[in-house]
This record gives sequence, C-alpha cells and structure tokens, in this order.
Amino acid sequence: MAEQKATNVYWHEGEVTRAERAQLLGQKGATIWFTGLSGSGKSTVAVALEKALHQQGRLVYRLDGDNVRLGINKNLGFSAEDRAENIRRIGEIAKLFVDAGVIVLSSFVSPYRADRDMVRKLHDDGGMDFVEVFVDVPLAEAEKRDPKGLYKKARAGRIPNFTGIGSAYERPEKPDLRIDTSALSADEAANRVIGELVARGIVPG
Ligand code: ADX
Repeated sequence: MAEQKATNVYWHEGEVTRAERAQLLGQKGATIWFTGLSGSGKSTVAVALEKALHQQGRLVYRLDGDNVRLGINKNLGFSAEDRAENIRRIGEIAKLFVDAGVIVLSSFVSPYRADRDMVRKLHDDGGMDFVEVFVDVPLAEAEKRDPKGLYKKARAGRIPNFTGIGSAYERPEKPDLRIDTSALSADEAANRVIGELVARGIVPG
C-alpha cells in the first residue's frame, strides 16, 4: 500500500451525501472487478455487460487495462511494483466513481491476490460494494486466442514478464463469481454477472 506522503491534509466533508446522489440516480454505485489472464475475455464481457446494464437504464462506466495504461497510468510498466501501483490507482479511481453513484466495470489482469485484496479492502472500508469476477479460461485457450499477438511475442522471449508465461497469475481462491468464457458467450457471461448483481441488490431484478 502506498504510504501517505503529504502532511497537513484533512478530509473535507461536502453537503451532498452519497445516499442523496444514489437517490437522484435511482441506483447505488458498485465496483465489478474482472480479473483473469490477458485474452481471457474480461474486456469482452465488460463491454457486453456495460451495454446490457445501460439498456436497463443503469449508469455504468468501464475502466479497462489497456485504456488506463494509455492515460493516467502511462508511466507504469509490468514489474510487480508497477502492477501494484496500477491496481491501487484503479481501485481509488473506482472508489470515486462508486461514491458518485456509478456502477464501475473494471477489467485488469490484476494477477496478484494481495493487490486485489487491497482494492476489496479499500471498498469495504468505504462501505462500498465490490464484486470480484474471475474470468477463468485455461492458459492454453487464452494463448490460442492471442487477440493481440502477445503470447506469441512472449514465447519468443520478447515480453519477459508476460502474465502466464514469465510472470505468475494467482488464481482467486474465493471469487464472488467465476465465469468460463470458453463455455459461455459474452452475452451469457454478462447475464451471469447481472444475476449476481440482482442477488446482491445492486441492480433491481
Ligand atoms: S495488470 O497486471 O497491471 O493488471 P493490466 O490489466 O493493466 O495489467 O494490463 C494488461 C494488458 O497489458 C494486457 O491485456 C496486454 O495487452 C498488455 N501487456 C503488455 N505487457 C504485458 C505483460 N508483461 N503482462 C501482462 N500484460 C501485458
């Protein structure tokens, strides 16, 4: 966890509460955290889910690994330290959106359990819903898909710390939901997630 560097800073409370924003929007914010290998289908499922929830009248916003790494996290690479900082920043950004009342769909490899647990704790401490969705496909399947040609490069030794090849992916031990995109279409997977969100009272049935 990054340490607090700035001193003499104090939280300033506003006069509009999270609950009042939720009432205005007719929904409560939450973070749906997709984790899984590159090529597992996290972003594809998040895109399908975003569309489905939007069509149901939900305010939903996607945070995606590649996109965020082209912007706010452009100064981070793929060392364990940089991945931890990547996930920490995303966690804090997700919290801001959730506080604003938005349903956040985040899709990051997030290979390390400690980093994912840290983001869960950030949400728990803030009294916010956090749903971990493990997009679980065998490495061989992700490698066969290889949508960006990165596994091929990694096997050729051109990406030394590529997740699943030269760098570990720590499987979630108790995800809130596990989906296998080698057995389900993106829409079917999105529906599974919606079922979980309904069960948790995050969106109405
Ligand atoms: S994370 O490990 O820090 O969570 P993140 O989801 O932001 O990763 O970015 C992963 C994406 O970056 C992958 O989908 C892939 O396109 C690209 N990438 C480039 N280098 C690597 C690498 N060494 N390991 C994993 N993904 C990489």
